Amino acid sequence: MSTTQAEPPPIVFEPRSGESWRDPFPMYKALRDHDPVHMFENDRGEFWALSRFSHVLAAAIDAKTFSSAKGLTIAYNEMEQLDIESPIVMMDPPDHTAIRKLAIKRFTPRQLNAIEPLLRAFVIERVERLREMGEGDVVQELFKPLPSLVVGHFLGVPEADRSLFDRWTDATVAASADGNIGSGGDAVGELVRYFSEMIERVRKNPGDDVISALVHARPGGNEVSAAWILGFAFTMVTGGNDTTTGLLSGAAELLTKNPGQKKLLAEDPGRIPNAIEEFLRLTSPAQGLARTTTRDVTIDGKTIPSGRKVMLLYASANRDEREFGPDASECDITRKIRRHLALSYGPHFCIGAAAVRLQSRIALEELIGRCPDFTVDFAKGTFASGSYVRRYASMPFCATGAF
Ligand code: HEM
Repeated sequence: MSTTQAEPPPIVFEPRSGESWRDPFPMYKALRDHDPVHMFENDRGEFWALSRFSHVLAAAIDAKTFSSAKGLTIAYNEMEQLDIESPIVMMDPPDHTAIRKLAIKRFTPRQLNAIEPLLRAFVIERVERLREMGEGDVVQELFKPLPSLVVGHFLGVPEADRSLFDRWTDATVAASADGNIGSGGDAVGELVRYFSEMIERVRKNPGDDVISALVHARPGGNEVSAAWILGFAFTMVTGGNDTTTGLLSGAAELLTKNPGQKKLLAEDPGRIPNAIEEFLRLTSPAQGLARTTTRDVTIDGKTIPSGRKVMLLYASANRDEREFGPDASECDITRKIRRHLALSYGPHFCIGAAAVRLQSRIALEELIGRCPDFTVDFAKGTFASGSYVRRYASMPFCATGAF
C-alpha cells in the first residue's frame, strides 16, 4: 500500500442553504471516497449520511428498513410540526402503494400529450420576451413560472386563478424549503382554503385533474379523506416547483459552461431527451432526503442503529465514479445513462417524472432553437435558501451570449 498518499480532506457533512449551495460537490466526493457511511451530530442528535450510488440506491429501494414515515428532513420531531395528514412522500408501503396507484393514473402519456400545446405556447411567449429584452432574469421569466403552470394544470387550477395560485405557491415553496411550512403565513392558509373549496366543488363537478380523481376514488370501498387529498396537493406544490427550477437553471449553467454541447443540441434537437437525463444526473435538484432506520443496519462494515435519521445523498450518488466512470462529474449529453437517482428509485420514484421530462424538453427546444447563442451569468446567479433542494433563485440571461 502506498505511504505517499496526501492527507484526506476533513470529512464532514454540512447541510447547505443559499450561497453555500454553490459548490457542495467536493464535500460529496470526500464523503464517497473516505467515509461513505458517515455519522454526524449536532445539538439535535445523531444522524447518518450515505453518499455512494450503490448504498443510496439500496436504501431507496428498501423502504422497510429506511422508512419515510417520520419525515424526509433531519428534524427528529418533523411529523409533530405538520398539521396535515401524512402526505404520500411520508408514507410507507403497503398504505403508500395503494394510494400511489390512484394518483399515478392522472400522469399518463395521454394526459401529458394533452398539455404539450399549452406549455409550448407559454414557453414561446416567455422566450420571445427574453429575446426582445436581450437580457433578463431567466428564473423569474421562465424557470419558475413554467413548473407552477404544470403543477396548477395537474391540480385543476383554472386559468383565471393562476396568478393568485402562483403567488401562494411562491410563498409556500419558500416556507417549506426553510423546513417551516408555518412561516408561509397567509399564503399557506389561502392555499389550504383554495384546495378545500376545490375538493368540495369537484365532488359535484369532477374534472380531468388529480384532485377530482382522488375525490372520486374508492380504494377498498372507502373515500380518500379530504385531509389526505390536501396533503397530496401540497406534495405536488412543494415537490414539483423548485426542483424543476433547479433542473432548468442548472441546465442553463451547464450549457453555458459547455458551448460545444449546446451546439450538439442545436444541430440535432433529437438529442435533448438524453441531455435531460444528464442534466438531471448532474444537477440532482433534490440533493438529499432523509429516511429513518427501523432496525440496526450494517453497511460497508458500519452499523447504523435503529431509529436514526439517514440522509440519502442523491446528488453525491449521481456523481459516483464507481457507477458513472472517472468522468462522472463531466457533462456529456451523449452519455448512455442506465439509471440515476435524481428522481429517486423504488417505491417513491417521482410521480411527476414524465411531466419534468416534458416541460424541460419544451423549454430547452425553444430556448436553444430561438436563442442558440444564449449564455447565463451563473457566477452572478443567487441560490435559494433551504437545505434539501439546490436551485438558483435568480440568473442573469443574455439572448446573444454577451456574458
Ligand atoms: C426536476 C424536477 C423534480 C425532481 C428532481 C423531483 C424529485 C423527486 C424525488 C427525489 C422524489 C422522491 C422523494 C423521496 O426520496 O422521498 C419525488 C417524489 C415525488 N414527486 Fe417529484 N421531482 C420533480 C418534479 C416533480 C413534479 C413536476 C411533480 C408533480 C407534477 C412531482 C411530484 C412528486 C410526487 C407526488 C412525489 C411523491 C411520490 C411518492 O412518494 O410515491 N415531482 N420527486
